[in-house]
Amino acid sequence: MKYGYFDDNALEYVITTPKTPLPWINYLGNREFFSLISNTCGGYTFYKDAKLLRLTRYRYNNVPYDNNGKYFYIKDGETVWNPGWQPVKTALDSYECRHGLGYSTFTSSKNDVEAKVLTFVPMADNCEVSKVTLTNKKSSDASLTLFSYVEWCLWNADDDMKNFQRNLSTGEVEVTDGGSVIYHKTEYRERRNHYAIYGVNTAVDGFDTSRDAFLGAYNGPDSPDAVADGKCTGSVASGWSPIAAHQINVTLKPGESRTFIFTLGYIENPEDDKWESYGVVNKKPAVAMLDKFKTEEAVDASLEELKNYWKELLSIYHVSSSNEKVDRMVNIWNQYQCMVTFNMSRSASYYESGIGRGMGFRDSCQDLLGFVHLIPDRARQRIIDIASTQFQDGSAYHQYQPLTKKGNSDIGSGFNDDPLWLIAGTSAYIRETGDLSILKEMVPFDNDMSVAKTLMDHLKCSFNFTATHKGPHGLPLIGRADWNDCLNLNCFSEHPGESFQTFGPSEGPVAESVFIAGMFVKYGEEYAQLAELLGDDAEAARAREEVKKVYDATTTAGWDGDWFVRAYDANSNKVGSKECEEGQIFIEPQGFCVLAGIGVEEGLAEKALKSVEEKLDTKYGVMILQPAYTKYHLELGEVSSYPPGYKENGGIFCHNNPWVSIAETVLGHGNRAFEIYKKTCPAYIEEISDVHCTEPYVYSQMVAGRDAKFFGQGKNSWLTGTAAWTFVNISQYILGVYPTHKGLSINPCVPEDFGDFSITRKYRGATYNISVKQNAQKGVSKLIVNGKEVEGNVIPYEEGVKEYTVEAVIG
Ligand code: BGC
Ligand code: NOJ
Repeated sequence: MKYGYFDDNALEYVITTPKTPLPWINYLGNREFFSLISNTCGGYTFYKDAKLLRLTRYRYNNVPYDNNGKYFYIKDGETVWNPGWQPVKTALDSYECRHGLGYSTFTSSKNDVEAKVLTFVPMADNCEVSKVTLTNKKSSDASLTLFSYVEWCLWNADDDMKNFQRNLSTGEVEVTDGGSVIYHKTEYRERRNHYAIYGVNTAVDGFDTSRDAFLGAYNGPDSPDAVADGKCTGSVASGWSPIAAHQINVTLKPGESRTFIFTLGYIENPEDDKWESYGVVNKKPAVAMLDKFKTEEAVDASLEELKNYWKELLSIYHVSSSNEKVDRMVNIWNQYQCMVTFNMSRSASYYESGIGRGMGFRDSCQDLLGFVHLIPDRARQRIIDIASTQFQDGSAYHQYQPLTKKGNSDIGSGFNDDPLWLIAGTSAYIRETGDLSILKEMVPFDNDMSVAKTLMDHLKCSFNFTATHKGPHGLPLIGRADWNDCLNLNCFSEHPGESFQTFGPSEGPVAESVFIAGMFVKYGEEYAQLAELLGDDAEAARAREEVKKVYDATTTAGWDGDWFVRAYDANSNKVGSKECEEGQIFIEPQGFCVLAGIGVEEGLAEKALKSVEEKLDTKYGVMILQPAYTKYHLELGEVSSYPPGYKENGGIFCHNNPWVSIAETVLGHGNRAFEIYKKTCPAYIEEISDVHCTEPYVYSQMVAGRDAKFFGQGKNSWLTGTAAWTFVNISQYILGVYPTHKGLSINPCVPEDFGDFSITRKYRGATYNISVKQNAQKGVSKLIVNGKEVEGNVIPYEEGVKEYTVEAVIG
């Protein structure tokens, strides 16, 4: 069952009922100011950091679901309704929500009044603009009252929901322009130099800034007293819960429309220019912001700018195939999701509260693989930011806070896959841009510039960390966990409340990871290539020797007969082996070792992928392990804590499905690679939205596995490495346009019946128009570049050539 449809021309997903199985959300914002917005107008807003600078309050775990939001109420006689249906939930006569790239629109009607709400964050301003248009479709005059409502968060979202004894006394506001502009200035009097505003471009008939006054102390946003009464109370909050609400009385003649523009903004003042007069905030920048968006023309032009920005971005990689769903995901939604993961990492979604994880080291490095072609300059800065949190021994803070860019010491370091992801991200950046200068940048360790070294030295530390942290089988030590956060082989946690990941010594000398071995082989080689590019052949040779050792350990101690072992635990027992009672086979080493090229010549790769197909495949994707753990294994940790079929215990963890798909392309299996691609691909499972539940335009982190009660149900949509890895898979391996240091390589691996296709790719200042004639699954037999046949797969880069016409024949 579907709850909407794709409108590819408009680059939008159209939701036709507010009653989706779960809130289906969108992200607004491109740089520093962000909002999450659901199809019922739920969501919240923050500046830079969802934990430290949150503008509006949201209640996770709330009942009813997806409440709070930025709400508009329309009172038409005795009827009160909202364009997004929530929070009043009056049945609407019509409803449509369109989620576009960085904006959302709602068009609804009730009793012959139509409301249109367009909401977006402009490209260069720290605000969310909402354009609200009311149209009277009755044959008589309509006397309406429009109310707006946002509830302020007291900035630090973590503190906001805990420290009530303080918070209920700190709230402060100012009101100007007869109530049109409301200033939220809590804590501005002391250590903050920022405040928030909510203004409307018209005179108002009333306002409120105290939640109790507007809602009534025992009401929720579903039944505000002020709305029932038809008028605000003019409250000026002092302590308790400050809000911003406007009241506008509108009379519309038949056929008449009126538009109002609401601006929710974040303002920062210079420390020495905070005040206009004693206790009165400096409003100049706020007034300028409101001024900028006070006309419809200005708002429309700003939306146009946003749309053009996206059009331009999406022209960097564009495919035309006979396959509408592939085109839609590649050209629109998959790249869009990659940008959202760039902005958010794993911090703020409907499943990540924004106060927990900040930016993940490994997460952000992997996300980069999916957006580096879109915004290479920002990717460059991201790499430097991430590397700046590394320690001198090569290990790294597992997370850092986006506002301070400092490592998060609550969780610390010790996730032994982290260092290698830095090589992955840097290598991808350089293959995309050819910018070797990044390797010479001086980058601090643990944010301390006095011990800075070049980025290349950081990569060397990463490489050496793994090379020098090996266990009894010559395989890399796992530390607290590797990519699989729940494989806690050194923790032995027995009591609830202890963190699975950071409990205990966490850094045992024995537990080893075959997955990190796969990574070391892949990214060790990429490190060696970077050393070569810098002219350091000796370092490249040393790196390859180290890689060889780990390769050999992987094909011996890391091999179980029919697949790769997952790990050795702290007692040197195998994890992910036939010998195990449960958890006999894990997906990660099969996918990653094969995509790294391990065991391809020896025939192990072929066997490993066969085993994946036999043991882990389902109709909804490839499960992370089997058989799922049915009891808690002290020696394994969190992985065995989840009920079978969920999350890391046998869920379909979408992130590593593309690894297996890429691995299949390495072996030339186009049919199978594409089959795996399709199973988790949102556009392909749109039809089962009632089973899948999460948004049909983006990937979810996890789909419940075969052992779960709700097999096929998605969870944790949006913020997942699945976005980046799937884009890498489809764009670079299946469609086969892969950036190498020497130029673009063309080597697709597609299913037999895929058909011919063409790709436009902008790369290092030139445009490549590539057309592919398909006669087989893999193997380019002919490559013609600007009329000349070339040897091999790589399009030779020629200085000064801006257009390349490329014809490739597979088979
Ligand atoms: C989850 C993982 C997550 C980790 C860190 C675990 O409970 O299952 O997916 O990466 O917590 O937050
Ligand atoms: C989600 C985390 O963000 C990611 O870092 C981790 O690799 C996966 N869970 C698997 O545990």
